[in-house]
Amino acid sequence: MSQVDNHGGPADNLPELRTAPPVPEHFENPGLPEHKPRLGDVDPRADKRRERIVLALFAVSTLGTIGMLVAFFALPTGRDVATIHRSNLWLGLGLAASLLGIGLAAIQWAKSIMSNEERVEQRHPLQSAPQVRQAAVRNLAEGVKDSGISRRGLLKTAVVGSLALFPLTIAVPLIGDVGGSWDVSKFKHTMWRKGLRLTIDPSGRPIKAADVTIGSVWHVIPDGIDKTPDPLEEKAKAIVLVVRLDPRDVKSEQIPGGSYQGIFAYSKICTHVGCPVALYEQQTHHLLCPCHQSTFDVADGARVIFGPAKRPLPQLPITVDDQGYLVAKSDFTQPVGPSFWDRLR
Ligand code: FES
Repeated sequence: MSQVDNHGGPADNLPELRTAPPVPEHFENPGLPEHKPRLGDVDPRADKRRERIVLALFAVSTLGTIGMLVAFFALPTGRDVATIHRSNLWLGLGLAASLLGIGLAAIQWAKSIMSNEERVEQRHPLQSAPQVRQAAVRNLAEGVKDSGISRRGLLKTAVVGSLALFPLTIAVPLIGDVGGSWDVSKFKHTMWRKGLRLTIDPSGRPIKAADVTIGSVWHVIPDGIDKTPDPLEEKAKAIVLVVRLDPRDVKSEQIPGGSYQGIFAYSKICTHVGCPVALYEQQTHHLLCPCHQSTFDVADGARVIFGPAKRPLPQLPITVDDQGYLVAKSDFTQPVGPSFWDRLR
């Protein structure tokens, strides 16, 4: 171990201790760095070049919007996944070009065309005094002047054109997908009508009441659904679940006389957001929707006993025809599917 003494030896080699410089009472404001003009500010040709870039970006946006609209009409989707993929791809590319063009043009405009004069704003209390509001209006007017839009006619046309066209990317698909009809009453009805037979999904075989045993559950579609112009759309509204309960277990039914000897038919479309309700618990008579676990009690008018659904599954009133086949007594007496449609009533 080395010895350290006060008169020499290793202690003599220690570096001299330095004291920290005194902290000033306040720091000087370093101010703004020196202002450097941009190339476009000093070279008119560079300024023109930047304007052309902004124009080109707005043109990309306009072409993107037009391309998206063309794709919407020229590439209709069929029943196969390939046409849906192709349509989505071109719609997405058009929409991306439309939005990206406007976004990049706005950034480029702000960075290279608008004035880059540096201003210092002194802090002041935040208040909405009349002078402040007047100043804000003045600043706004200056901003418009700064943007150069009043001097650059072509640029004005480009920005107005691309911004005016862009809403079409949202409006056209929305309007087009309604199918050309604004008659929303079609959502309130299905193809069920008096005397239409209940058939097994998907075979289409009619069901005799005698075939439905207690505890069994049947997935049912209306007879002749495959002969309609759009069987899938009809099925999406009209599909039904048929169950047979022991009459002693029935607590209530939604439509008095709507069942036949303990056979009940309820819409299979969940009243929450429309998933197919297909999990049937034989012992408890509960129907469970797999999407968000709404649970309906079939023995008690299909009322909601759990989950986010707000109303019972609509009941289809049924009876039998003279050959013993199950038939509908009428259409559903209330809209099927998500409760949203209730608001239209
Ligand atoms: S869709 Fe059935 S619970 Fe949400």
